[in-house]
Amino acid sequence: MDTETAADTDGILAEIEDIATLAVDAIRDAGDPDALEAAKAAVYGRKSRLTEIRRSIGSLPKAAKPAVGAALNKINERIDAAIADRAAVFAAAAEQRLLESEALDLTLPGRRRRMGHRHVITKVFQEIADVFVGMGYRIAEGPEVETAWYSFDALNIPPTHPARLGMDTIYVDHPAGTAAAATEGEVLLRPHTSPVQIRLMETEPPPLYYIVPGRVFRNDTVDATHASQFHQIEGLAIDRDLSFGDLAGTIERFCHEYFGPGFDIRLFPDFFPFTEPSAGLEVRWGESWLEIAGCGMVDPNVLEAVGLDPEQWQGFAWGFGVERIAMLRYGVPDIRWFTDNDVRFLERFT
Ligand code: DAH
Repeated sequence: MDTETAADTDGILAEIEDIATLAVDAIRDAGDPDALEAAKAAVYGRKSRLTEIRRSIGSLPKAAKPAVGAALNKINERIDAAIADRAAVFAAAAEQRLLESEALDLTLPGRRRRMGHRHVITKVFQEIADVFVGMGYRIAEGPEVETAWYSFDALNIPPTHPARLGMDTIYVDHPAGTAAAATEGEVLLRPHTSPVQIRLMETEPPPLYYIVPGRVFRNDTVDATHASQFHQIEGLAIDRDLSFGDLAGTIERFCHEYFGPGFDIRLFPDFFPFTEPSAGLEVRWGESWLEIAGCGMVDPNVLEAVGLDPEQWQGFAWGFGVERIAMLRYGVPDIRWFTDNDVRFLERFT
């Protein structure tokens, strides 16, 4: 190689080196894929200086060709590597953005599904029913809208009887002259579940052992122990040779199973037109006694009203106040809590 050719070659090599340095800087500085494409085009494009040099290689002196060719290959590698590095950075950033956009935020606590449950009165119904079903009783129901005959007359409560007047019954209007008014007589919201006793004795021959859970209505002033709607469980046993001892034994056995051995109970003389003799049942609640039921031997007049011969059949009956039992069993101080629908109260009975 002569000295002139050698000097030209050094000049080209130096220029190639400068082009490479500038191109790699531009590639590293590219802020996004578009800027990277522009930097790539600037160095490799058809009109770029590098392309010009590559095209001119054929016209170089023969001695200069290998050095320039080798230098061109080397800087291609450097520039390609810089492009690949920068592209990899953009690809990683894009991947990260995608992951973030698709990510599920699992840092919040899960939402608990709140399950419903039986109302405390339903629960007490079922608990009481369990005890009596265990003694061989069956469960029956009757209508909430009743006639005066089932509610009173058939139960030995004639129209002028003080018990009938004192029951605070809510009457339902029958438009005068309708067939219902003629056939049903007075219609009312039943003030007790006792009419179902009559319906049972009318439809099924004895022996009968039934309990009757149900809702009853009274035109009463509401306070901590009185409600205008509440629940009773009527009991009826009709068989041969039943005595007051059978009644007392049944009640006592129920109370023992239901309230446990810690509760005291007592029967005291009472009066109901449909039972003779009649009694009230009290359970001790703290220092005081709370009446939870009326009961007695089915009055012969009631048996006769449904066509049963009192000489052959006897029976006993009772009517529990379900809210009162629930108050005793669960220590509820106010009957209104059962209908207030305050979940803080209701949730105690899941
Ligand atoms: N029906 C009565 C009332 O609501 C309760 C009752 C008392 C029912 C004596 C009976 C009974 O079956 O024998 O006050």
